[in-house]
Amino acid sequence: MAKVYVFDHPLIQHKLTYIRDKNTGTKEFRELVDEVATLMAFEITRDMSLEDIDIETPVCPAKSKVLSGKKIGIVPILRAGIGMVDGILKLIPAAKVGHVGLYRDPETLMPVEYYIKLPSDVEERDFIVVDPMLATGGSAIEAINSLKKRGAKHIKFMCLIAAPEGVEAVKAAHSDVDIYIAALDEKLNDHGYIVPGLGDAGDRLFGTK
Ligand code: URA
Repeated sequence: MAKVYVFDHPLIQHKLTYIRDKNTGTKEFRELVDEVATLMAFEITRDMSLEDIDIETPVCPAKSKVLSGKKIGIVPILRAGIGMVDGILKLIPAAKVGHVGLYRDPETLMPVEYYIKLPSDVEERDFIVVDPMLATGGSAIEAINSLKKRGAKHIKFMCLIAAPEGVEAVKAAHSDVDIYIAALDEKLNDHGYIVPGLGDAGDRLFGTK
């Protein structure tokens, strides 16, 4: 069964407050999203496996731990997910970055994949799918479907803010995908925005309207 982790670390919560604030401008918003993504990456990598290697300290030979070489893939959902990539790469610089783009079909209102580019060794990687907002869950579910269709076996989903509706939808569709959240908000409003949320993450990141 999927687990849901809400990161209540004080630094994450502090920065999230300024991310939410409508008076925070584009430059600062982008920097804060980047910083929170780094802090979340620290938490999300807690289960990475380690192995012992032999080294010599200035004092004596020693066995010491290094990451055991698990390959990571980061997949932002276009476009707002891009804002979280560099922050994660600061801690996992060897990760490969794929991209998935989705549009909403005007008739079915369902997300449809229009672009996907993944690292070639999909089956061997652990993937972190990222999008700042988990609203209805439609995009996250479809992005994860896209990865699974191409052979991805281990997937985590990471976002800044989630609505309960989105969390439940992803859990129901992908019971093998753990969800990592900085804040679980109250609800979705009639326009599909998370309340209280932060507005449109893509527009705020890229300075568009
Ligand atoms: N996408 C956003 O950018 N904001 C929301 O509140 C919901 C979806």
